[in-house]
Amino acid sequence: MEHLDFFSAVGNTPLVELSHSSPKKGVRLFAKLEGNNPSGSIKDRVAASIIQSGEESGALTPGQTIIEASTGNMAMALAAAAKQRGYQMRAVVPPQIAPGIADLMTLFGVEITWMEPRSGMLGPIEEAQRLADENGWWFAQQFTSPANVKAHYETTGPEILAALPQVDAFVAGIGTGGTVTGVGRRLKEKNPDTIIVGVEPKFGERLQGLRSLEEGYIPPLLDMTLLNRRFIVDSPSAFDAVRRLVELEGIFAGISSGAVLHAALRVAEGMDGGNVVMIFADQGWKYVNAFPWMSHQQRPEGAPDDVAWW
Ligand SMILES: Cc1ncc(COP(=O)(O)O)c(C=O)c1O
Repeated sequence: MEHLDFFSAVGNTPLVELSHSSPKKGVRLFAKLEGNNPSGSIKDRVAASIIQSGEESGALTPGQTIIEASTGNMAMALAAAAKQRGYQMRAVVPPQIAPGIADLMTLFGVEITWMEPRSGMLGPIEEAQRLADENGWWFAQQFTSPANVKAHYETTGPEILAALPQVDAFVAGIGTGGTVTGVGRRLKEKNPDTIIVGVEPKFGERLQGLRSLEEGYIPPLLDMTLLNRRFIVDSPSAFDAVRRLVELEGIFAGISSGAVLHAALRVAEGMDGGNVVMIFADQGWKYVNAFPWMSHQQRPEGAPDDVAWW
């Protein structure tokens, strides 16, 4: 039997049709299951691409310590890749990450520096840069590295098109903006009419891995000109969608995937027909502890559950 090394096991994730979830006849929903990557998220693609570019440029040297600002997935993906390549891994982490994620990061061998509450995402980024400068560590910089967008432009996007040549709408969460920008650019090159939808958490709420642009930090990699719509999803809607997904399809995806599914269902309702592709960035297992915590957050009667901004 052929065997693979860790890096060649990254990507080539399945694109699965959600045949029980479409709200409309003639609209087909497809999910790219990025939780199938070796460390469990889409960030394996970015970690592999960023480490490769660091090694090629000579900026990342053997045995060096890598540091990153991360809410979890990127730190774990870099840590997994670092184990393979002989690097140490550190992360600067905002305090609002989902319960249990820090334990997982520690399990992967990540040394964590916690930021103060309300430091936003800019706080961890600036602190990671400061620590890198002070200690001679290599700052992976998922928020600004072109290797992030490149990973999606060269792998995620082409894989989608190889599996499904006609993509009418594409829905992905916005964290660094790398996924929606890299895949969006590739899909629009193939078909300029593809609708690209970016999904954000509601202002002031946490959806692990996603960021509200309303908080004032526009990720530098995010190409807003590619976005046809921005969709704001609140946390209860994202969790409801995760539960519904397991119920209807038997797929247990992460919280950002619930937000993406929730937005995609709204997009699908407004279409006459066609194919909607979603990114499910990770699986649900690492958020199991977050479920009882979230059940306290009930939406007030009559409050809107989401807002389509464009
Ligand atoms: C679970 C999850 N979903 C979505 C995203 C967003 O991806 P991107 O950074 O490419 O915008 C991330 C990024 O950290 C994530 O961890």
